[in-house]
Order: sequence, then C-alpha cells, then structure tokens
Amino acid sequence: MSANNIIIEKTKDYVKEKLSLDASGHDWWHIHRVHSLAKHIAKKENANVFIVELTALLHDISDWKLNGGDDKLGAELAEQWLKDLGVDAETCKQVAEIIKIMSFKGAMVKDNMQTLEGKIVQDADRLDAIGAIGIARTFAYGGSKHRLIYNPNIEPTMHTSFEQYKKDNTSTINHFYEKLLLLKDRMNTETGRSIALERHKFMEQFLEKFLEEWNFSKFKLS
Ligand code: NI
Repeated sequence: MSANNIIIEKTKDYVKEKLSLDASGHDWWHIHRVHSLAKHIAKKENANVFIVELTALLHDISDWKLNGGDDKLGAELAEQWLKDLGVDAETCKQVAEIIKIMSFKGAMVKDNMQTLEGKIVQDADRLDAIGAIGIARTFAYGGSKHRLIYNPNIEPTMHTSFEQYKKDNTSTINHFYEKLLLLKDRMNTETGRSIALERHKFMEQFLEKFLEEWNFSKFKLS
C-alpha cells in the first residue's frame, strides 16, 4: 500500500469512529457516499485526487449544524489530524481551507470556493443532500432537530446571512425551498451539474406528490 493510501485508510477509521453515533444524516455512510462521488468527479475533472479524498472524508468531522454553531472547529480538527499523520503542511492547509468554507450558508449567501478540489467536494456533498437520499437525510436531520415535517402556515425564508440561516428553525418541507431545490444551480463542475439534474427532478416529483396528499381532504372530500 502506498503512503497516501495508508493515510486515506487511517482517516477512514478515524472518521468512522468519530461519527459512529450520528443519527442526523451525517453518519459514516454519508461520508462514504461523498467520498466515492468526489473521487469520481475528481478523476473526470483532472483534480488532485488525494486532496479531494482527504477533504471528502474529513468534511463533517465537526459540522456547525451539530456542534453548537462553530463553523471553524471542523477545519481545525481535520488539520490537526493530518498533521499528526505527517501529511505535508501545504496539503493540510488546503484541506482545512476547503472545509472551513464549504457549507451552505443561506439562499442569498454566495459561495466562495476557489480551488477545483474544493469545488468538487462541495458538489459531492451537495449531491448527497438532494435526490432520494437527500430526501431521506433531510427528514432524519429534521427529526434530530425536533422539526415539524411541514407547517403550511410558515412560509419558506430566503436567508440573506449565515447568522439568520443558522438561527432559523424551519419545517423540513420548507428546507427544500430554502436550500435543496437551489443546489442544482450552485453546482461548480459539469459532472456535478449533470448528476444534480436527475436528483433535482426526483425531489420536485416528491414534493408535488407530498403536497397533493397533504391537500387531499381539501380537494377530494369537501
Ligand atoms: Ni456532508
């Protein structure tokens, strides 16, 4: 096994252990899917696959949504972990930099990803937030935050700042309009965009059916 492969395998074990108790949709299998997707996109887009793999594996090591709102801690932990493994300083810095800025921070808040490797991992993470798996994860996350499935009296909000987005405790259905349905137009790579289109369509079908059933009594029984 090459030195890089040993680092990847050790990182997998570290992340598996760290996320073993997660029930919010940010468990090891989310990381596993993002890792595979990111690797696939990285090869197509001719990126540095080692940096992409490490970032994909470590990107949720301490997510702000689950650690009390700290959006710097994950990057720090990832950097420390890689340093301890003897990874060169430049790679450690690049991985940490991507993790620091990659999460979605509101409908009206622009993404600021600079490197190709960062763009790829961001795409892979967002692809796992949409489609059939995205739907499953969104309800798991909503449940873990004690959110209602839906409340037709609360309109979705297009958040203009990260602070506002962080604080909002919306319904899970609103989350589709506030984030998930916006992701296909925020894909960074061509490969990501083409995968996103199909997943997006499936979410639209799901929402249509959901709202049709929700309104059943209104239209069919009255
Ligand atoms: Ni993630």
